[in-house]
Amino acid sequence: MDGLSRPRKAIPSKFFYDAEGSRLFERICELDEYYPTRTELAILDEQSDALASLLPDRAVLVEFGSGASVKVRLLLDALDQPAGYVPIDISREHLLKAAAHLANDYPALTVAPVHADFVRPFRMPDDLPAGPRVGFFPGSTIGNFHPAEAVAVLQGFAEALDGRGQLLIGVDLKKDPRILDAAYNDAAGITAAFNLNLLARINRELDGSFELAGFLHHATYNAAAGRVEMHLVSQREQQVRIAGRCFHFRAGERIHTENSYKYTLDDFRLIAVAAGYTPVAAFTDPHQLFSVHLLEVGRP
Ligand code: AVI
Repeated sequence: MDGLSRPRKAIPSKFFYDAEGSRLFERICELDEYYPTRTELAILDEQSDALASLLPDRAVLVEFGSGASVKVRLLLDALDQPAGYVPIDISREHLLKAAAHLANDYPALTVAPVHADFVRPFRMPDDLPAGPRVGFFPGSTIGNFHPAEAVAVLQGFAEALDGRGQLLIGVDLKKDPRILDAAYNDAAGITAAFNLNLLARINRELDGSFELAGFLHHATYNAAAGRVEMHLVSQREQQVRIAGRCFHFRAGERIHTENSYKYTLDDFRLIAVAAGYTPVAAFTDPHQLFSVHLLEVGRP
């Protein structure tokens, strides 16, 4: 409501992820055009020996925004006797289901899910195994924050890790805008449905009156800002009611729904250093589409 009251309408992208949005996002991750998921998985797989030698034995993995807890399995399989796994996610049912599944598949692992929005302060579980902490933040979700916010998010992670340990983080790379354009405008229209689900969610949860056909998905790379932007564009002049309040849209007016920042390796190292980390290693794929950085919490 606050975002839609502004002269430049915007809705924070974290609201994409209700049950339907999380389901649509998982479908996006399987699309041919959406390279980040499979490329990051390939990097983690390819680098499993290097990661096993750089990361400590008996680690307690802490995953920020764990979703379906799929990628962490590659790490759990690569590491020597991982002791614990703390998945943190905003979507409660998704979190508990994924955690139960994982606990079943890794019986020796202490799995301690935390239902929280990882950008806000939250309490870590009390009785975790004593091993060294390793944060895990895959998927380039860090790209959904403005760079200044990204620094603050990384500082928050360092606190959750008790000011020590390491962070393994996936970061999407700058690349040919045509590849980005295809990834965020897929032919099957799943990304469009994901974007429009924000309006459907407002209708469901806030007694909204959005007509979904009155808005179009729009995604484009803003080279000056180094980010893909997603918008919903009003196809006509229209009024919408939300929780009893009326919002006016001009024909062509946009709601800004997401930024997805892309970084070079050095761009991201600067962010990490500004947040108080020391870059240890960075891995990429042969086509330089995606990167996985290993950072040490604290300065040298
Ligand atoms: C979760 N996040 C990293 C995705 C991204 O690429 O920025 C969300 C997404 N938006 C459209 N497609 C996928």
